[in-house]
Amino acid sequence: MSLISRRMAHIKPSPTLAVTARATELKSLGHDVIDFGAGEPDFDTPQFIKDAAIRALEQGKTKYTAVGGTLSLRKAIAQKFKRENGIDYTPEQIVVGVGAKQVIFNAFLASLDPGDEVIIPAPYWVSYPDMVALAEGVPVIVKCALNNHLKLTPEELEKAITPQTKWLILNSPSNPTGMAYSRKELEDLAAVLRRHPQVHVLSDDIYEHLVYDDFQFTTLVQVAPDLKERVLTVNGVSKSYSMTGWRIHSSGSLLPLSVLRSPYG
Ligand SMILES: Cc1ncc(COP(=O)(O)O)c(C=O)c1O
Repeated sequence: MSLISRRMAHIKPSPTLAVTARATELKSLGHDVIDFGAGEPDFDTPQFIKDAAIRALEQGKTKYTAVGGTLSLRKAIAQKFKRENGIDYTPEQIVVGVGAKQVIFNAFLASLDPGDEVIIPAPYWVSYPDMVALAEGVPVIVKCALNNHLKLTPEELEKAITPQTKWLILNSPSNPTGMAYSRKELEDLAAVLRRHPQVHVLSDDIYEHLVYDDFQFTTLVQVAPDLKERVLTVNGVSKSYSMTGWRIHSSGSLLPLSVLRSPYG
């Protein structure tokens, strides 16, 4: 009998870590390398955040909290969604986890039964298919065309949906392409989603603030409030505030996914 579970056979070693290790190796050999491996900003965590964390430690805020996040934090997150995204989530609809990665994994574990399909537009963040497979779902990879800037078209979405589709992952701006969906593009995808009520959307907005020029970030619930009950909006601080080593992130949803709560609060 093997110590390692059969489930682990579904997952592959992380290509991100392999690329990062190779970049580090080349740098140590004196090569001038720009590392596109890990999605990590190149600036330090801002001082006001460090100061607030030190103050919290000094005030003894080091104990277990409510598992879904403290009420004051969930209220602050609800205000963020209102202020920056124009979305109304109540604090009860917000769940705090130890990372967007954990929130997404929990969502799949909580919702996927064997055979349930998850549409993943490619190129994609390498963790998505493994997380789906670990939860015994079926990743359905849709290769997006270069001439549409590697973004999913309504036609491609329509073609990929089956009665078994449970989720569509929308990651905008995208890791790894950096491409982001415009308001119009999201509206067109929403029109397809309205025809398929079994499909939920995991909107991974973690790179919301990493946009350039005059691009206006928009998220699905903002353009299609009628789909709110089917969307899990995932966001966090690791990319926007260069806090990749800090572990706290949130998601807003009306979905009954109480297991998204982290045991660490
Ligand atoms: C698209 C995407 N989503 C989520 C995450 C994970 O974010 P977190 O640091 O909050 O776990 C990453 C990290 O690389 C990412 O690239």
